[in-house]
Amino acid sequence: MVAYYWIFLLDFFLTFYFFTKDVIALKNVKLSIEPAVVQYGNQSTLKCSYDLENDILYSVKWYRGPLEFYRYTPSEDVKTKIFPFDGITVDGSNSNSTQVVLRDIEFNLSGNFSCEVTTDLPHMVTAVDEQSMMVIQLPEFSPKISVGREVLDSGDILRANCSSPPSRPPVTLKFKLNNRTVAQNDPHPYRKINERSWSDLPLELPLDDMHFDNNGRLLLECVAMLPGVYHDQVELELESAKDPIPQRVRGLNGVKKASEQTKPLLYIVLCYFLLRSAILRAL
Ligand SMILES: *[C@@H]1O[C@H](CO)[C@@H](O)[C@H](O)[C@H]1NC(C)=O
Ligand SMILES: *[C@@H]1O[C@H](CO)[C@@H](O)[C@H](O)[C@H]1NC(C)=O
Ligand SMILES: *[C@@H]1O[C@H](CO)[C@@H](O)[C@H](O)[C@H]1NC(C)=O
Ligand SMILES: *[C@@H]1O[C@H](CO)[C@@H](O)[C@H](O)[C@H]1NC(C)=O
Ligand SMILES: *[C@@H]1O[C@H](CO)[C@@H](O)[C@H](O)[C@H]1NC(C)=O
Ligand SMILES: *[C@@H]1O[C@H](CO)[C@@H](O)[C@H](O)[C@H]1NC(C)=O
Repeated sequence: MVAYYWIFLLDFFLTFYFFTKDVIALKNVKLSIEPAVVQYGNQSTLKCSYDLENDILYSVKWYRGPLEFYRYTPSEDVKTKIFPFDGITVDGSNSNSTQVVLRDIEFNLSGNFSCEVTTDLPHMVTAVDEQSMMVIQLPEFSPKISVGREVLDSGDILRANCSSPPSRPPVTLKFKLNNRTVAQNDPHPYRKINERSWSDLPLELPLDDMHFDNNGRLLLECVAMLPGVYHDQVELELESAKDPIPQRVRGLNGVKKASEQTKPLLYIVLCYFLLRSAILRAL
């Protein structure tokens, strides 16, 4: 009877040993996508790192979603296989057992990629890691502000629009008046062109005294952003009725001072010639 217990225990430990040995045969399968946020048409490198723990590599398979597009099998004559996949361009010469380079990346590649590593006999262990990639297109130009031409005072309504050229995803736009946010859009794909969309933000703001700064000025900014990827802004000083020195005049200040400085000199020269001719005549 006691012998059975011993055999049972021995079986248990042997099973446990082989089981855990298999499990730890392949370790640390990790996929990293560099860059993971990639500009449309650019390239990205998918790196798969793994620890074979003395086992032999059988294959590394690469998937976009559920579909395989690249396979590396060192034991076969043709080690690499590229499977046709609409929209994926593999750079074969820079791809190997640990990385795949994708070129001319299309928008529809946004999504999950995975690498699946399998070791050879006797263990034949498989492990997978998955990461996501996002394909973007930044706006080609800065945002533009358009406003009416009227001089603004408390009680008036400030009307403006800000517009950012096509991007994907559409940028978030924000209006700031004297550095305080007064409007923000919730970007959604509309006015679409070639899978990209404009972003627009209208502003209709009844002005009161608190909107003007201490000098009675109104500085309007439009900020365009894709968090972590893109940030651009433009600013425009609006004509304010409260501004003691209107913008148009302030812009001319420098010129005015220069001409004021030349005036005394002109008078002196004129006086000199008058005096000189008077003296000459008197002689
Ligand atoms: C895309 O590629 C261009 C030129 O190679 C590079 O200047 C730019 O930084 C890349 N953009 C992104 C988002 O990777
Ligand atoms: C991805 O986009 C490219 C070009 O726009 C197209 O040729 C390809 O068929 C698309 N692939 C899929 C899976 O939709
Ligand atoms: C795969 O290629 C990259 C870049 O050329 C290189 O750094 C890496 O060591 C290669 N991997 C193997 C296993 O040869
Ligand atoms: C990508 O993977 C994440 C987590 O694994 C999942 O939540 C998400 O739905 C996947 N995205 C797609 C497009 O399959
Ligand atoms: C803002 O856009 C709207 C709609 O396109 C237009 O009717 C309005 O005149 C524009 N306002 C300004 C100040 O440009
Ligand atoms: C605008 O506000 C931000 C914080 O909201 C602050 O860091 C910045 O200094 C302010 N700029 C000016 C010109 O007041």
